[in-house]
Amino acid sequence: MTTLLINIKELIQVRENNIKKVSGADMKVLPTIKNAFLLLEDDTIIDYGSMENVPSSADTTIDCTGKMILPTWCDSHTHIVYAGNREQEFVDRINGLTYEEIANKGGGILNSAKKLQETSEDDLYEQSSKRLEEVMQLGTGAVEIKSGYGLTVEAELKMLRVIKKLRENYKLPIKATFLGAHAFPTEYKNNKEGYIDLIINAMLPKIAKENLAEFIDAFCETGYFSVEDTDKILEAGKKYGLTPKVHVNQFTTIGGVQVSIKHDALSVDHLEVMNAEDIEALKGTKTMPVALPSCSYFLSIPYTPAREIMNAGLPLALATDFNPGSTPSGNMNFVVATACIKMKMTPEEAINAATINGAYAMNLSEEVGSITKGKKANFILTKEILSYGAIPYNFGSVLIDSVFINGKAI
Ligand code: NIG
Ligand code: FE
Repeated sequence: MTTLLINIKELIQVRENNIKKVSGADMKVLPTIKNAFLLLEDDTIIDYGSMENVPSSADTTIDCTGKMILPTWCDSHTHIVYAGNREQEFVDRINGLTYEEIANKGGGILNSAKKLQETSEDDLYEQSSKRLEEVMQLGTGAVEIKSGYGLTVEAELKMLRVIKKLRENYKLPIKATFLGAHAFPTEYKNNKEGYIDLIINAMLPKIAKENLAEFIDAFCETGYFSVEDTDKILEAGKKYGLTPKVHVNQFTTIGGVQVSIKHDALSVDHLEVMNAEDIEALKGTKTMPVALPSCSYFLSIPYTPAREIMNAGLPLALATDFNPGSTPSGNMNFVVATACIKMKMTPEEAINAATINGAYAMNLSEEVGSITKGKKANFILTKEILSYGAIPYNFGSVLIDSVFINGKAI
């Protein structure tokens, strides 16, 4: 079945050749076609171009006058599967406690882990699927989801099985990351080696056997997992074929970037605190730096130095970090707006970072992230807007008319 979208005011992020990512000064360039058509066959983009060359017919035709089309957002870093919320800690922070102080009192990740351990797999699925549906309506058409609120063998497997079930029941690409190394459970507080041993020798073999994850992550941070711990965990993951995508440099720079690169990480995520050596280390690697501006916003911590990263010729991706503690929002429109407003990215840079570079950071470059023949027909049809710059400019508004996944409006 063919679907033809006509009179598109501007077709955005058109890439004739399927380039995998954009870096440095190239991020300023966002290729578009004005007054365009887009032709789909079933779930795939098969043609596009100027309205002067519009095909004469199709099974279905949709008139897009005044509206624009861009690829759906590629959210390469989320923790969408969680139980309950942490609203009380939000209020505690308003009243003066820091994120670190809350964690040190047994709150934070351990609080979410306790809730998740007490929640049934079915209930966890219900809560998580609602969040997934919400972000899809906000324009997300490919997503990565992490475990890491289980912290026991059973609860980590429960989270990963929920991610698997989401993948089976929803049509967007979903990638799973094993994040057993998210925090040390209280009972291992004085036996960190014991918990790392549990991750490596009990969790990893089971996850690999059930084929529950493609990526491995660790929270490499002062007070969480050291560079040496991270090194061991990534090394063990590699034995099971898991590619690293790693939480680094959120609060301190301790060598997380370097250890991730050592293990050929697909991405290094957070990067709120970066020194010159961290930026230098990323040059010439295949590792995608990923910024999470909604986390900086919610926790009032520094924003990733996007300009310095791009000036070094590096690529940059944007993602939400949707999770109950540091970023209870999965809205990529807000991420793009905040990247422009707070990180001084141009709309072109931010849209590149949230689409094609986000796809790269999930190993999905062949499927999504641009309007390219052969890619999945996952795209956003905007409301009537004057220019695509309205997406970050009118921050807080959702300028989406409809979201198409596999060629169908959801
Ligand atoms: O990416 N920093 C580590 N993990 C999450 C937040 C965890 C939490 O507070 O629940 C993040 O920000
Ligand atoms: Fe995260």
